Amino acid sequence: MTGVKIVGVGHYAPERIVDNQELETWFDTSDEWITSRTGMKRRHWTSENEATSDLALGAARMALAHARLEPKDIDAYVVATVYPDYLFPATACIVASRLGAVDKAAFDIEIGCSGFIYGLTVTSALVRSGVYKRVMLIGAETLSKLVDREDRGTAVLFGDGAGAVILEAAEQDSFLASELGSDGSNPSILLVKAGGSRRPLDERALDERADRIHMEGREVFKFAVTKMISATDAALAKAGIAKSDVNVLIPHQANKRIIDAAMKYLDIPPERCMVNIQEYGNTSAASIPIALSEAVNAGRVKPGDVIVFVGFGAGLSWGAVVWKWA
Ligand code: ACO
Repeated sequence: MTGVKIVGVGHYAPERIVDNQELETWFDTSDEWITSRTGMKRRHWTSENEATSDLALGAARMALAHARLEPKDIDAYVVATVYPDYLFPATACIVASRLGAVDKAAFDIEIGCSGFIYGLTVTSALVRSGVYKRVMLIGAETLSKLVDREDRGTAVLFGDGAGAVILEAAEQDSFLASELGSDGSNPSILLVKAGGSRRPLDERALDERADRIHMEGREVFKFAVTKMISATDAALAKAGIAKSDVNVLIPHQANKRIIDAAMKYLDIPPERCMVNIQEYGNTSAASIPIALSEAVNAGRVKPGDVIVFVGFGAGLSWGAVVWKWA
């Protein structure tokens, strides 16, 4: 068994910014409601002809430049997303080819907003076990195309973007522990009903919003706070690290109130928590790697720092990874 470290980070968001004031012109909402309930001010939305692989490509290129590597130097490409370009092929295959990486392993991970946490666990295992020397993990989403834009309850929450990391084999191990979990007993809490094999043969049986995000917000809120706390506690216990020794916590950016409630219970001071929800909204599997890339570029992460990545999402699913920055 070898170790693993992150040698490159990158992020990308589409040009178009939709702020709360613009949403006020669409339906009955207000900047005050959105800001106080979610912490969001702006989000980036793709244009008509942009898809998930376009955003993934932007983040991947930045991570390659940061690591001073070429696409051919990466052995495997993994994309975590809930909204791929197509039902198949995997978006990772499209991204690898568009980068000019020939004959490389490529696959997608679909586990809602927990995608980056699950992806980091899986790709770290691929490197630590010696299967691959370098793996690129990208979280990329275009949820603006998956929300019902007339539903103020969900349309204000989601944004588009991508974040990428490059993992490389190393002598010192950055991966300290992971805690993953799921509960699929009530999928309707966070669900896109149409598009899969449960679709009725007679499509008229589906309601017209079946291909849009359905979310029971209050249920998700309660679950999210509980699982962010328990997953962080469990991963830190596995790593043998005290909460007071966490330098940076990078949570999934779903709602500032969820983050604040979890931080309060975990007794982690707000200045150690990375929050950029005001700029991006909820970008699902992309939110943690975007926040990491911004934190690294802002000098908020230093060698030797203990980082906790923690997320939750559709499934329901949740997880946390404890990482020592090299
Ligand atoms: N503007 C104004 N009013 C609104 C809006 C809006 N954009 N959206 C909802 N409201 C109204 C509701 O209609 C409701 O009105 P009513 O009382 O007359 O019925 C009122 O505001 C309160 O609605 P609640 O749903 O109770 O508001 P709450 O305080 O719970 O906030 C929110 C809603 C922000 C969605 C919150 O529940 C939340 O953040 N939940 C978690 C969401 C989340 O984390 N999602 C992750 C998805 S992860 C993935 O895998 C995709």
